[in-house]
Amino acid sequence: MSDLLSQIEPLKQEAQSAMAGAADLPSLDQIKGRYVGPQGQFTALMKQLGTLPKEERPSTGKLINAAKVELETTLNSRREELELAAAAPKEPIDWTAPGRQRALGRLHPLTQITDDIVRAFRKIGFAVADGPEIEDDYHCFDALNTPADHPARDSQDTFYVESSDTRLLRTHTSSVQIRVMKSQPPPVRIIVPGRVFRRDSADATHNPTFHQIEGLYVDKNVTMGDLKGTVEFVFRELMGKDTKIRFRPHYFSYTEPSMEIDFTNSLVKKLGKDWLEIAGCGMVHPQVFENVGYDPEVWSGWAFGFGIERIAMIKYGINDIRLFYENDVRFLNQF
Ligand code: DAH
Repeated sequence: MSDLLSQIEPLKQEAQSAMAGAADLPSLDQIKGRYVGPQGQFTALMKQLGTLPKEERPSTGKLINAAKVELETTLNSRREELELAAAAPKEPIDWTAPGRQRALGRLHPLTQITDDIVRAFRKIGFAVADGPEIEDDYHCFDALNTPADHPARDSQDTFYVESSDTRLLRTHTSSVQIRVMKSQPPPVRIIVPGRVFRRDSADATHNPTFHQIEGLYVDKNVTMGDLKGTVEFVFRELMGKDTKIRFRPHYFSYTEPSMEIDFTNSLVKKLGKDWLEIAGCGMVHPQVFENVGYDPEVWSGWAFGFGIERIAMIKYGINDIRLFYENDVRFLNQF
């Protein structure tokens, strides 16, 4: 075997392993130049063909060419691998992360407002709690200091589940106060967004089902000042920095004292009003604490409840509550 011939196979193998080991595209290009470029070692072999006896030249030339073709294949497949690796993200991908953009549709305006309210309360440390829509009269009324013969119960003429005297569609999210307090020791700092049901006939401002946010804060030495500060903070987050609130005395059986909250801002003025009633609230009644096993001598707290539709109507200038439930895309598209 000629000296030239014996060089081909080892040189090819050396080039192949160099290519396979190339760490990135620039080093692959360098390796390519070293072996098959115009100044490369295979080109040099070709140039030496002239030193061989004439009859050996064609077969040796063929072998060199075949080796170059093989190297071309190795080169291309390594290039593809390196290009793929370069395009891949450097960080591991979290396949469970939500998309940046919804592929289709959008959030219902009530969902958007609920999210806004939840976000505002989360900023000041409130957690979201949940409870059943089909409630019993204990959690909905009795434990909230509204026994069966209480006049306040008459006014909540409600939907009882057929075949049951005690199970009903909850009339307010206040029932979840009881469930949460019974399930954990104080302190408590929760809000409860949820759907409620009342025997109202539908008109521009009433619907048999709507949504509320309940809030409950229980700790040592909780005051009405905390209540006022919290409500003011949240309504400013929701309705703008120019929002003012005021408390008016009222009656709820589960709070004492009880108040209604009015608010005003430029939106309210635009409606031609001075103040709009927006929520009910008060200091948790000692009897309610007794009912859930909290010592009213140690713990104090406040609670509030307001309607989500009402907030959305004022904020977006919607004058008919029924628009929220009709799901007319011409309406929904505007949010
Ligand atoms: N449950 C009342 C309603 O549905 C709202 C409410 C008033 C909730 C006072 C409270 C409260 O927690 O303290 O109208």
